[in-house]
Amino acid sequence: MGNRTFSMIKPEAVAEKHSGAILKMIEEAGFRIVALKMTKLSEERAGQFYEVHKERPFYNDLKKYMSSGHIIAMILEKENAVADFRKLIGATDPAKAEPGTIRNLFAKSIESNAIHGSDSDENAAIEAAFFFSRMEQF
Ligand code: CMP
Repeated sequence: MGNRTFSMIKPEAVAEKHSGAILKMIEEAGFRIVALKMTKLSEERAGQFYEVHKERPFYNDLKKYMSSGHIIAMILEKENAVADFRKLIGATDPAKAEPGTIRNLFAKSIESNAIHGSDSDENAAIEAAFFFSRMEQF
């Protein structure tokens, strides 16, 4: 068994029907889907998820954006999952994301950046538990 990361396909990427292409890239990069669900965050839940950013100037906009449509949450497993997934998605700002990364291909802006990936093993576990019970993880 490899280790795990947490990811969300964000509202604009789901609305623009990029979910299938993104999931294909994730599986082809060697990640195993451990848990998956489509859901919609309230502004309050989005705020809780991104609580670490609460002092940042973009926090209010981020809450609105992340609650503006459906998202697809998932837990992914692979050796070196957190770091390898961040390589696959590319930099937060799509203008700086390497060619061929998910954000390079599908993100629109630094905020509407198509997908989230955990930044540490510790946060991956916290974020996974935010969306999924043990019974929903396979
Ligand atoms: P994510 O990797 O999910 O983590 C925090 C999110 O905040 C980030 O993706 C972007 O959606 C958003 N974000 C980060 N930096 C900025 C910024 N400078 N301006 C607007 N949104 C940002």
